[in-house]
Amino acid sequence: MNSDSPIPILVTGGAGYVGAHACKALAARGYTPVVYDNLSLGHEAAVRWGPLEIGDIADRDRLDAVIARHRPAAVMHFAAFSCVGESVADPGKYYRNNVTGTLSLLEAMRDHGIRGLVFSSTAALYGTPESIPISEDAPKAPISPYGRSKWSAEAMIADVAAAHGLSTAVLRYFNAAGADPDGEIGERHQPETHLIPLALQAITNASPLTVFGDDYPTPDGTCIRDYVHVSDLANAHVLALDQVLAGRVSITLNLGIGYGFSVSEVIAAIERVTGRSVPYDIGPRRDGDPPVLVASVDKAFDLLKWKPRHIELDSIVRTAWAWHQRGQ
Ligand code: UFG
Repeated sequence: MNSDSPIPILVTGGAGYVGAHACKALAARGYTPVVYDNLSLGHEAAVRWGPLEIGDIADRDRLDAVIARHRPAAVMHFAAFSCVGESVADPGKYYRNNVTGTLSLLEAMRDHGIRGLVFSSTAALYGTPESIPISEDAPKAPISPYGRSKWSAEAMIADVAAAHGLSTAVLRYFNAAGADPDGEIGERHQPETHLIPLALQAITNASPLTVFGDDYPTPDGTCIRDYVHVSDLANAHVLALDQVLAGRVSITLNLGIGYGFSVSEVIAAIERVTGRSVPYDIGPRRDGDPPVLVASVDKAFDLLKWKPRHIELDSIVRTAWAWHQRGQ
């Protein structure tokens, strides 16, 4: 980027896991990330590369004031709830925040003339895919309110972009994992539901991880996922932003590494990296877990010229373990 003064970018949910890593990547490329976060799940300590504005995306008055103060050139929108199980129990919470909240943000953008958006979406909208790897035009059949809320938000963004001339990049992540290699930020969900941090906790707390099913139609019977390092995801967001700012685009991309690892392979990698054994039990399948989710990533590689750096599971786990040990 060639600019004398840093370009402000509004980062909703910038105090969260992926959002904070995106802020670090933005700052490294000379942008100023202005974090807009209600801190319901995010952490103030993760906001280190620009100002923090506390607010909810549904609060139009607050959004208007923050946008008027910072005059962002574009928005990166991460603010969302993302727990599949919770979304089944409380769908209203998900539609209110992930859909209605996104509409409030889009209308604020329209009213302030902000034309660029990078949106954080998910592989959850593919449901249980018919074929692997999953390309962006695979059928959308989300099997949870969470997935449906993100699919609804994507549809809404496309409509608003067409009507009001937005330039957009919609990024569908597979399994975000790992932590900032410099150790400045990492994964700290409350409650934690993700495999790698739970397996690391199982080691340090000496309380077993439950492996959700070992009778799937996969080589070792456990589910296969495409784990993509959070710093690689963050870099992809900045590359997408560059294109969003350069002209009117409408990009939808999968972000993964294009290769899957089973739960058993993840546990083995954790044992290799930590030199400790992961205590675990085999439990029943978790509702809504497809056997295999692996991204087709050709489009992201071609369009963004993006190349994930962490393609070895051990390298992803090493950063997660370093971060986990800091929190002990
Ligand atoms: N798993 C276990 N035990 C656990 C936690 C997870 O065996 O205690 C397994 C899951 O069954 C799954 C794999 O580890 O096979 C990964 O599970 P995560 O919970 O870490 O991640 P998910 O694949 O469920 O979730 C990701 C995203 C969600 C998205 C979902 C779409 O984090 O936002 O993919 O399926 F909705």
